[in-house]
Order: sequence, then structure tokens, then C-alpha cells
Amino acid sequence: MPNEFIAREPDASALPEELLRAGDPLGWRIETYLNEAEWWTLRQDGRCLALLGCLRLGAEEAEVVNAAADPSCDSGEAPGVSPLIRLLEEVRAEAERSGIRRLTAYAGSWELGRLNDYQRAGFRLIAVEPDYYAATGLRTGSGGIPRRDRVMLEWLPPSAADSSPSRSGSHSSAEAREAERFGGAEIRRVELRDSRPLAAMKKRLDRETTSMLYESGERRLTEGEQLEQVRAMLRSANSLLLVAESGGEVVGYLEAMGGKVRRNQHTVYIVIGILEAYTGRGLGRRMFQEMFDWAARRHVLRAELTVQAPNQRAYRLYRSLGFQLEGIMRGALIVEGEPVDLYQMGCDLRIIRQRGVDK
Ligand SMILES: CC(C)(COP(=O)(O)OP(=O)(O)OC[C@H]1O[C@@H](n2cnc3c(N)ncnc32)[C@H](O)[C@@H]1OP(=O)(O)O)[C@@H](O)C(=O)NCCC(=O)NCCS
Repeated sequence: MPNEFIAREPDASALPEELLRAGDPLGWRIETYLNEAEWWTLRQDGRCLALLGCLRLGAEEAEVVNAAADPSCDSGEAPGVSPLIRLLEEVRAEAERSGIRRLTAYAGSWELGRLNDYQRAGFRLIAVEPDYYAATGLRTGSGGIPRRDRVMLEWLPPSAADSSPSRSGSHSSAEAREAERFGGAEIRRVELRDSRPLAAMKKRLDRETTSMLYESGERRLTEGEQLEQVRAMLRSANSLLLVAESGGEVVGYLEAMGGKVRRNQHTVYIVIGILEAYTGRGLGRRMFQEMFDWAARRHVLRAELTVQAPNQRAYRLYRSLGFQLEGIMRGALIVEGEPVDLYQMGCDLRIIRQRGVDK
């Protein structure tokens, strides 16, 4: 369009309030990020047609906290060129230049135009949080129908998006065969709906084995807390949470928690647990392989974990995957009344990449 230009907006107080409020269903939240976010506007003849705010969450991740277009400029426009899409494309390109490897965004499930714009700009839907806006007290229904779900979207640069771990609903026949081998279990990225079965599974595992950190019945993990943890893992560019699912139940998980500060953001700390009935079928090894593939895409260089010295099954698996024993914490745990040593193990993921894990 003539006389139209996209610009960075250094002064957040110059942003039109009306558009800001249109861009965030939770209007009261705007001041929490207004001065922290970077802002872009699309203007024509001095008039602001669209705005977009982007908040950096970590070294490699950012969130689109607000995105709105003047409703009057939607009418009559050719598909693919809405002001919001143009802004999203600009911010995506900027994100790629500045090393961002994951952009997330949120929208209300009723905001169909906005969801459409995000998808046309290359974002994809990754989670739905049912009744999110009900919890915040926002009334969003019209005609008596309450629509309060929040949709989470993600954009990854092409290199990272190409081969993300398999998601439910998209199995190749090879994946189906693999699920067969693992006793019907399928490995995939966690979703918010897994929170309840995942929390239950962790508690069951505490009862089944002394190899995890918690004693039986000690873990006070509510479904809500697990949901928050899942949400945090999904938002983190250098963290991964995989689950193994069988018959609708979570039967195993692998958490790779990314370092939080610049000096350790290249590392992940691993926790893995599989229900006894599903052990010894290659599920543990397969989850590590998925994690290694993901780590290569995200430039994670080192994985670390601890394991109780008597847990030879886990120790052998880790050794066979390339983990080295880096230290022994003598008597670090008391398990069933007896002191137990804890092995500190680490793995240089660059070596794994060169060598490959072929089992
Ligand atoms: C430890 C654990 C993650 C391993 O996963 P798994 O799916 O059972 O292991 P896999 O079937 O992938 O086996 C991989 C390797 O582990 C080792 N292993 C498996 N079962 C074993 C056993 N009964 N005894 C000794 N080693 C064994 C082998 O080295 C095997 O290699 P292989 O592929 O050449 O046979 C899983 O058993 C588990 O979660 N156990 C309970 C909780 C736990 O110990 N968590 C880890 C805390 S640090």
C-alpha cells in the first residue's frame, strides 16, 4: 500500500491505547509488559493500522505479547496481506536475525481472525488451555455461549521446525511399528492435557521404585502445579518434555530442563522415569534418541543427570548412550535407611552427533 511503513516504536507510551486493548483480552496485563517489550507498528499516512509487541523470554526465545490491527483495515483486503501478517513476518525475520529459535504467541479461541493471521504468518497451534480466561475472570461469550479457551501458537525457524518430534495424530507406519515394539507406547512431546496423567504417573513411579528422588507418597504435586510445569517447559526454548503414552495413559517421561542463565543455557538436566511394566523394551533408549535429535536442532551442547549407584539398569543405559561418570556424591541420599551414593554423569552432545547413537 502506498505511504505505508513498518517501524520500531521506541516509545511505548506513543502506542494507541485502543489497539493495545484490542490486542490483549486481558487488558489489565498490558502494563506488566508495556515497557519491557519491543514494539513494531504499521502506519499509513501517520495513522497506526497495526501494532505488535514482542517480549524476549530468554536468549533464544521470545513471546508475541500483543498483536492487533485496526478492524477497519481488514475489509476488502486481499488474503495474505493483512497488516498483522505483515507485522508478524517482519518480527519473524528480525527474530531469526537475532538468534531467536522459538516465538510463541497466545490468542483467545474465539479470535478467529487473529488465529488465522498467525497461521498464515507461519505459526502453528501447539496447545489449548481450556477455560483459561474463565480462571482470569474474563467474560468472552457472546449470545450466551462462553468461549474461554486460550490457544498457544509457536513459530520455529525452518531448520528447527523441519523435524520436530512426532506429535499425536500424525504417525507414519514406521512410528506405528515402533509403538508396537514398545508395548503399544508412543513417544511424543508433552501437551497440556497430559498434566493430570503425568502427575499421577510420577506418584505411581514413586511407589514402584526407590530409584527416583521422592519416597512413596512424598511427592506433593497437584495437577495444577504439573500444568504450570508443563506450560513452563513448552515455553522454554532449551527445555523438552517427552511422554510415552499407551492406551491414553502416560507410562513414561523424559524431562530435559534447560539452563536458565546465559552461562549454562547450552546444558540440559535430564530426569527420566518409566513404569515398570514398560521397562526393558527400548523405550528409555528411544526417548534419549528423541532428546538428542531435539538438542542438535536447538544447539544444546551438554546433558547432565544423576543416578543412584545401585541403579545399574539406568547406569548401563546412560553409559551406552555416551554419558561419562563425572563424580560420586558419597552417601548423598538415604534410601530405605541406608546411605546411597549418587553418580553425577555428563554427556558432550557434540560427540554424540559426530558418532551417532545407532541402537
Ligand atoms: C532406567 C530406565 C529409564 C531405562 O529405560 P528402559 O526403557 O527400561 O531401558 P531400555 O529398554 O531402553 O534399555 C536400554 C538399556 O538399558 C539397559 N538395561 C535395560 N534393562 C536392563 C536390566 N534389567 N538390567 C541391566 N541393564 C538393563 C541395557 O543396557 C539396555 O541396553 P540394550 O538396548 O542393549 O538392551 C527405566 O527402566 C526406568 O525408568 N526405571 C525406573 C525409574 C528409574 O530408574 N529412573 C532413572 C532414574 S536416574
